[in-house]
Amino acid sequence: MKDLLRTADLTPGDLERVLDLAAAYKRHPHRQRTLLAGETVVLYFNKPSTRTRISFETAVARLGAVPIGVGPNDLQLGRGETIEDTARVMSRYARAFVIRTFLDDDVARFARTSSIPVINALTDLHHPCQSLADLMTIRERLGRLEGVKVAYVGDGNNVAHSLLEAGALAGMDVRCGSPAGYLPEPEVVERAKAIAARTGGKVTVTSDPIEAVHGCHAVYTDVWLSMGDAETERAERIRTFSPFQVNDTLLGHADRDVIFMHCLPDHRGEEVTAEVVDGPRSIVFDQAENRLHTSAAVLEALVCGALKGNPAA
Ligand code: CP
Ligand code: NVA
Repeated sequence: MKDLLRTADLTPGDLERVLDLAAAYKRHPHRQRTLLAGETVVLYFNKPSTRTRISFETAVARLGAVPIGVGPNDLQLGRGETIEDTARVMSRYARAFVIRTFLDDDVARFARTSSIPVINALTDLHHPCQSLADLMTIRERLGRLEGVKVAYVGDGNNVAHSLLEAGALAGMDVRCGSPAGYLPEPEVVERAKAIAARTGGKVTVTSDPIEAVHGCHAVYTDVWLSMGDAETERAERIRTFSPFQVNDTLLGHADRDVIFMHCLPDHRGEEVTAEVVDGPRSIVFDQAENRLHTSAAVLEALVCGALKGNPAA
């Protein structure tokens, strides 16, 4: 497996390997000081980022390489050079390419043409790196993944898609509660269900937030308006999503020891109340920290060719 474009690219074994490696990085953050000595890793961000960009840059530095962060206006890509030519050129210089942009197809084109690992750092449809940190955090907290019930409530977006795929790979009972019109992509749901059929997991999609969180060990949400969504939709989205806000009342339907998760940044008062995100059940900053350890793990695993990959993906 050369690239990480979506979580379903991984096999269940790959997922476990990455999470174990990430745990090793958490215990010994400098365990591989020279793995990428003398190399560069290019990080292309066509959308803002706090966690993904800084965690990857830090991980690259800890592995001994130099991170080169660029935006669309830094590269000739912004002036019309093709994705394919950019990918060929990057492959001659760098050891890996981390990319955050809009279209998944652009990342796929980049990956097809480049000879170096390409890592999806968030696209309109997927956020695989986030889902790895999410599962690492759940495993740390609960000591297991198999059979754990996790509900995502809100917009069926990139974060929801990657969580569905990751949960299915890990044999979890993963649910998504989203209003009609904002359900996760059917292709992703079908893929996650097919994976769950093999791992003993379960995938449920509903438009009832209470049904989604019922008895869950973890409840997850994300913003109601993602990067790339039209600002003009904001008011309508707030109206549509308000029954899906994660607050004390909704969490009352989950397990007594429920943990609250969010990829961040959050909008307190919209998808989650301040009481919940700042309260004792919230593990959002552990998730944020684990972005760093999973970034290092993904880089090592891809650069070393340690992942099998799922040919069906
Ligand atoms: N969770 C996440 O991807 O955060 P950033 O947008 O800050 O990278
Ligand atoms: N769904 C959000 C996630 C940000 C980390 C977005 O795409 O903007």
